[in-house]
Amino acid sequence: MTSQNAVNKRLPLTAETERLMEAAAAAALNAYAPYSGFRVGAAILLHSGVVVTGANVENMSFGLTLCAERSALVRAIAEHGPKLRIAAVAIANLNQAASPPCGACRQVLAEFCQPDVMVSFPAASSIPGEIHPHTCTFGELMPFGFQLQPRSS
Ligand code: THU
Repeated sequence: MTSQNAVNKRLPLTAETERLMEAAAAAALNAYAPYSGFRVGAAILLHSGVVVTGANVENMSFGLTLCAERSALVRAIAEHGPKLRIAAVAIANLNQAASPPCGACRQVLAEFCQPDVMVSFPAASSIPGEIHPHTCTFGELMPFGFQLQPRSS
């Protein structure tokens, strides 16, 4: 996957991006979203070539809901450890709606995503009601994430 895609957002998707988006859509089928009905899937491609997926998991105490992106990330870390390296992320939903990652997911992903990581998601187009796949870099999505310097002692 090249950073060229980030610039030329309307270029045909690479086979790798399409594969990742398909994995995200398949994961969305497993979403537990009885309250919103909004079913989201996320797929994380590691540098090793492994793809890890997640889906949103809602709770009747609404604030406890876990988004698909964080679901995929915690699974990736549980399975591959904290030193994993993310190459790309794709997000899909089954609702024909735009679904860029929310701010909370961007902040959580930021600790594991370099600015050049490719992120693909359904975005609203200039035509009302039309959705199209959009790919950009993580740095474009999250230019000013919160950072905390580890304490020296
Ligand atoms: N959701 C995600 O899975 N990812 C996001 O980035 C934003 C929202 C989920 C949470 C909730 O289950 C549903 O979408 C509606 O907000």
